[in-house]
Amino acid sequence: MSILVTGGTGYIGSHTVVELLEYGKDVIIIDDLSNSKIEVLDSIKEITNKTPKFYQINYLDKEKIRKVFKEHDIETVINFAGFKAVGESVAKPLMYYHNNIGGAINLLEVMQEFGVKNFIFSSSATVYGDPKVTPITEECEVGGTTNPYGTSKFMIEKILKDLYNSDNSWNICILRYFNPVGAHQSGLIGENPNGIPNNLMPYITKVANGELEILSVYGNDYSTKDGTGVRDYIHVVDLAKGHIKAMEKLEKEKSGLYIYNLGTGTGYSVLEIIENFQKVNNVKVNYKIVERRPGDIAICYTNPDKALNELEWKAEKGIEDMCRDSWNYINNNK
Ligand code: WQD
Repeated sequence: MSILVTGGTGYIGSHTVVELLEYGKDVIIIDDLSNSKIEVLDSIKEITNKTPKFYQINYLDKEKIRKVFKEHDIETVINFAGFKAVGESVAKPLMYYHNNIGGAINLLEVMQEFGVKNFIFSSSATVYGDPKVTPITEECEVGGTTNPYGTSKFMIEKILKDLYNSDNSWNICILRYFNPVGAHQSGLIGENPNGIPNNLMPYITKVANGELEILSVYGNDYSTKDGTGVRDYIHVVDLAKGHIKAMEKLEKEKSGLYIYNLGTGTGYSVLEIIENFQKVNNVKVNYKIVERRPGDIAICYTNPDKALNELEWKAEKGIEDMCRDSWNYINNNK
């Protein structure tokens, strides 16, 4: 039996593949390499001394997905594949809806055809929109998304709920990530987006190593501790381990639909991240305060209790690990 991981050469996907291989699972990756590199497979091999099967497939190509199901005995599918740049999604909504939702539907239809019902979905805290209360629990209202990327995640969650209501033999776990940062301690896999990073931590690392000149801090007039945005940053290895716990939950329950927030429960402001990064790595991060970024919210962090109580999972790594491992990865991969 194998675990099929879509987007498995990507940032969170590759870290999860490492954990799955070290857990002893047989892993098959499908990825179109649109936002990742084939060399990640070598890094996974170097870390685990194992090589997952790899198919360069876009999950919109249903026939090729079907072929993988025909050739392998798949027990569970973890779906990381999808476009994830918030700003790009505002400019190209059709591309985001077509790829993210169309790809997920393709995958689920082929799973249904082959009687594979265990599905773990990579969702996002962005489905909460601008939360009315913090910390956020899984019972908080969803759907107030402010960009097509977030809306695509919300719509796939809706599809999964309707699918489960139509057929209770499905066994689905929706994982809502907060802000993934950091890298595997080996420095062999991590986050290295193409072009100018959208997200805070990859931008900070490129300013610290001189690739970019200065960090723009998007607003310091939010009602937060120092006026800058507060987020729940979670180490990507903790996030990957959360997927192992979700897989074990599905193995235990056999059917159901389960939703968990994966975050630390602690919020840090932008200025606190900069301060921690400089202290831990003994580097300088030049920054300037500029206008707010459209669509940004002030505060977003989770109440992590449900994942602890039901998955026996909680984040173990702190902000220092996140800053140190992010910097280590970038220096290992200049
Ligand atoms: C974090 C904070 C910014 C960049 C988004 C998606 C989420 C997930 C992570 C995919 C905010 C500030 C940022 C910069 C800054 N995406 N910032 N200068 O927007 O919380 O979440 O990315 O999985 O689903 O919604 O993350 O890292 O972009 O921003 O001041 O150059 O850093 O204003 O307060 P965000 P982010």
